Amino acid sequence: MAGFTGNDLNVFLVRLRFVFFADDTGAWEKGLFSEFLETRRAEDGSDLGPLIERAFRVLDTAAVEGEACCQEDHRPRDERASSLGSRAAAVSQIRTSCSPAGCPASLASAAAPGSRVRVQGVISMLYQDLQGKTAVITGAGHAQGQGAASARMLASLGMRVLVTDRHADLAAECAEGIVSAGGVASSMRVDVRDEAQVSAMVAHAVSTYGRLDVLHSQAADLEILADPGDPDITQVTVEMWREQFETIALGAFLTCKHAIPAMVENGGGSIICTTSISSLMGEPNLTVYGSAKAAVNQLVRSVSAQWGKRGIRCNAIAPGLILSAPGLAIGPDLIDQYARHCSTGEAGTPEDVAHLVAYLASSASKYMSGQVVQLDGGFTSHSPMLAEQQSTGLIVGV
Ligand SMILES: NC(=O)c1ccc[n+]([C@@H]2O[C@H](COP(=O)([O-])OP(=O)(O)OC[C@H]3O[C@@H](n4cnc5c(N)ncnc54)[C@H](O)[C@@H]3O)[C@@H](O)[C@H]2O)c1
Repeated sequence: MAGFTGNDLNVFLVRLRFVFFADDTGAWEKGLFSEFLETRRAEDGSDLGPLIERAFRVLDTAAVEGEACCQEDHRPRDERASSLGSRAAAVSQIRTSCSPAGCPASLASAAAPGSRVRVQGVISMLYQDLQGKTAVITGAGHAQGQGAASARMLASLGMRVLVTDRHADLAAECAEGIVSAGGVASSMRVDVRDEAQVSAMVAHAVSTYGRLDVLHSQAADLEILADPGDPDITQVTVEMWREQFETIALGAFLTCKHAIPAMVENGGGSIICTTSISSLMGEPNLTVYGSAKAAVNQLVRSVSAQWGKRGIRCNAIAPGLILSAPGLAIGPDLIDQYARHCSTGEAGTPEDVAHLVAYLASSASKYMSGQVVQLDGGFTSHSPMLAEQQSTGLIVGV
């Protein structure tokens, strides 16, 4: 399987969804792709050529025997081929999607050295509008963090991503990872508390990539939550208050302030701020963190109201517990306790957030603005007494 790696496969499978068939020549399938590409170009100017070329390179070096079909109906190859009838029908059939989860599994299970794989071809329409657009993400340095997961997700969907963090080395590492996986990314050290740096970040994105379409503003200093902590209000100092508000609220304000004019230049864009469910309810601690995040919820509504007619959508994601490094650092007992109070029975992952970021970035969410979306496994959606009621059986129910 020279030249073929699982990573290569994952990269393009995220972007392209294929139906694989063993075939004698493969020329017919490649022809279909070319035809499909021409149709896309004629319709909306999409240029997926480089992506397809990459897919063919991977597939040509892949050694796969037999049929590895990930199309939902799993019909045998001959039946499917005859049902397509003509090339024209097949080109329209290409638009059908198939389960991406099935692709790596079926390809891997069918792999055998020396045989050939041929492509009949499905190109994902999912979030296709993001192809070639530019995103800037703040606080995206930590490899296990939500920002880095979102950077990887947006890059895998064809976006050009400027990865920023106050830690230059971490941001660079994240961008390098994206580039080595075949994506387009660069990095920059940006402290969101500094207006000059935020302004330079936006200017850099525009000068490097020609436009700015998506801002994901999500930097927060979670180290403060561990040391010195964020205690009850009588213990909070003015310094603690200022520090948290500077990164979370001032940072969100500055990034929106500078991104909006650049986005309006291109007819608009999507801003996604990350807040927290701590902005929506009282807790024994997190006094300052919750208050600062609540300020961002209101900022999102203001941006949406003021700039919606100029093409800017602005939403917030309010995650519950997410198992990034700071989430994992609270320890197994608190993680278990959180999971017990979740409808889904488990804490979230950075990738869960990244999926919502992709949706909010894309025009798939074009009717959504000014919202604070709780992404918390149902943690905030039920009676606080639910877990107790279920364990005591005092109320008849599930
Ligand atoms: N992990 C959770 O359970 C959880 C829950 C709700 C909300 N959130 C929010 O999600 C976002 C991402 O957090 P995470 O869990 O990925 O943690 P993380 O620590 O990996 O990410 C935060 C990033 O922000 C960067 N940062 C801190 N101060 C900065 C500054 N002044 N300028 C620029 N960058 C700065 C850090 O270096 C870090 O890379 C944060 O906004 C956090 O408040 C996290």
